[in-house]
This record gives sequence, structure tokens and C-alpha cells, in this order.
Amino acid sequence: MNPKDKRRKGFSMSSQTVSGQNLTQADDPNLAAPNNRFETINVALGERSYDILMGTGLLEKAGEQIKSLRPAAKCSIVTDENVASHHLNALEASLDQAGIVHKSIILPAGEATKSFDKLSYLVNELLSHEIERNDLVIAFGGGVIGDLAGFAASILRRGVDFVQIPTSLLAQVDSSVGGKTGINSPHGKNLVGAFHQPLLVLCDIDVLKTLEPRQFRAGYAEVVKYGLIRDAIFFKWLQENRDRVFALEHDALIKTLHTSCAMKADVVSQDEKEHGLRALLNLGHTFGHGFEALTGYGERLLHGEAIAIGMVLAFEFSERAGLCKTGLAELVRSHFKEAGLPTSMKDIDGFGDVSVEDLIKTMRQDKKVERGVLTFILCRDIGDAFVSRDMSEDNLREFLDFKLSGTD
Ligand code: GLY
Repeated sequence: MNPKDKRRKGFSMSSQTVSGQNLTQADDPNLAAPNNRFETINVALGERSYDILMGTGLLEKAGEQIKSLRPAAKCSIVTDENVASHHLNALEASLDQAGIVHKSIILPAGEATKSFDKLSYLVNELLSHEIERNDLVIAFGGGVIGDLAGFAASILRRGVDFVQIPTSLLAQVDSSVGGKTGINSPHGKNLVGAFHQPLLVLCDIDVLKTLEPRQFRAGYAEVVKYGLIRDAIFFKWLQENRDRVFALEHDALIKTLHTSCAMKADVVSQDEKEHGLRALLNLGHTFGHGFEALTGYGERLLHGEAIAIGMVLAFEFSERAGLCKTGLAELVRSHFKEAGLPTSMKDIDGFGDVSVEDLIKTMRQDKKVERGVLTFILCRDIGDAFVSRDMSEDNLREFLDFKLSGTD
């Protein structure tokens, strides 16, 4: 049997489909899984379809889940030092229990790990583990590990399958789903990479208990993004339930993951390689990636923090262009601010010296640039984002001048 046949086609007992703007399952009281059940969402991509499982105790079940998909595979677990110190024993024990042969590769934590150096090291480690085409790479960590390990899997022996076990909120609601993998270049964020879909995504909400609060807040920015782009009712639910999410209440977390992953799965299954609809998922990212490049991809500004500022700017830019009513940017800003996220370029440590031209130069490296024209995700309303190629560099320059001049 072709190993790919073991992907769980159609195994979607509780999947929900977000089919249009402002539709949501966020108010469905039956949505949250009881503590002993997993929610499942299927990402429908033909022979590359796969399931996202979410719930508690999934780490302990990982071996069993992986074994059922690829019975004879050996696995290389790719993780970082932080995740390894908290959770690697549990994952290794689960693989042992399922009789899966495995080895672990532990990398430094942090965005700097998404580099050519670490990619080269990782690929050679995987080859020294003799990972073959029918074996598996397990990306066990946050967005950095998922992106790097997924990319390494995509180029190893011209493509080895991989499983995502995301351990950060950001990775559970966004980066582990959809097959975007890659590393950063000094020229910009995620500029070297490949689309390579995972075989399975296992989101164990228990591991969020050990996530640093700053990382949790950064991941929360990606959660809010789903409400802002396509689901006003979910944004309202977040306004009313943010404290429950931050308190890691089971039902609130499951609803958060489910709504986010359902929307992501729906968008990705319609536009896997970002020819149109998927670009909406980049709300705030054109600005945000520029901030990350200018702050050196590090602790100074996390990805989620950069895009929180970027999303506020996208609403401000939309307001200034008369595309949405006044006051929405303030609504978004206050939601992020109350969650403890930065909301303005002035909140970025040492950003005072950055010029408008520096910013525009980094933004020109955005992957959505086509023949030199910048693409922005702008908003008509909360839950109603759209792709715009109508903003000129002059419009942008005038807006950034206004924001950076301090007159705002
Ligand atoms: N994080 C945006 C995307 O996956 O398309």
C-alpha cells in the first residue's frame, strides 16, 4: 500500500466548516470537547488531506496515532531546548509504548534557529539517523521548529512526510496547519521555503500550561486575526471570553483552537498555495514582517507581537483611506492592549531611529509583492478583510510618515 493512503481521508467526525464572512461556530455550546475526547478537523486537500486533532492527553497518545498512520516508520523528533526540558520525555515514552524506533534532535529555541546554518545541521542529522522516504520527521515545538523541521522534511531525499505536534498557541492555531515551511533570510522573513503539508497535526492543549506568558500573548494575536478577517462573531466572543482563554479554561481553549483551525483548514483547502483567498491570513503581516526584519528576528519583537501592531496599522490604514468606519482601529487596538500586546511602532524597543524608507525597503521583500506592487490586507469592517493592490507606495509613505512623525 502507498503510505500516503494511510492519511485519514474524511475522518472528520466533528469538523466544522467556516463557509463565509461573519459565520461562526463560536456560540455553539456543544462545540467544546469534553475533557476525555478529541476534536478533529480535516484539512481537505485530496491525497494530501490530513487531520488536526485537538484536546488533552494527546502527547501520551501520539505514538498510537502515528503508528496507525505509518506502522513501520521510524521517527526523528525535532524539538528545541525549552520544549525538550518540559515535554520530550512524555513524547518519547509514547513512541516507546507504541514500539516506534526514534531519535531526538534538540535545537536552540528562538527565531534565529530558522537559518541556513541550522537547516544544514538538521538535514545532516536526519541523514545520520538514516531517515528514509517512508519514515517520519516529527516537528515538536512552536512555529520555529514546525517551519524548520517541515522544510527539512520537504527537501530530505526529495520529500519525507512529517507530523506536527505544535506546543505553542501560535503553532496550534496557525503555523502547524497549511503546509507553509521555511527559514528566514537576512533579506526577509520566510523567504526560503516550500509548501509541504504534514501527515497529521496533534494539538495537546495541556502543553500550553508550560508556555511563557509572553509567547501565549503572541499566539493570541493570531487567534484574534481569524475574527478580524472573517468572523465578527468570533471577535465578539473573544472580547467577552479573553480572560477565560488566558486562564487556559478547557472549553474556552478548545473553542479557540477549533474556530481558528476550522477557518484555516477551510481557507487552505480552497487556496493551498496562496493565489488569492489565503492571502487574507496575512492580515498585519506586510507591516509585521517589516518590523521583524528591522529588529533582527529575535526576542526584541516576537512574530505575534509584530503582527498585533501590523493589524492595528492595517485598520488605521483602512480608516485613513475611507475603507472602513472610524473607531474600528481603536477597538482592535484596545483589545490587543488589554491582552498585554504592543499596538504601535512606538512600543517596539529602540525603533525610534527607523526611517520610513527603511520600513518600505523591508516591506518590498514581502512575498505578496508582484512586479514591485505591494499587497495589503485591508478591512471594510471587523470580520470583513480583503486583498488590496490599490495602495501606492506614496499612500504608504504618507501613512508611515504620519505614524512615525509623532503627530499621531
Ligand atoms: N500564516 C499564514 C498562512 O499560513 O497562510
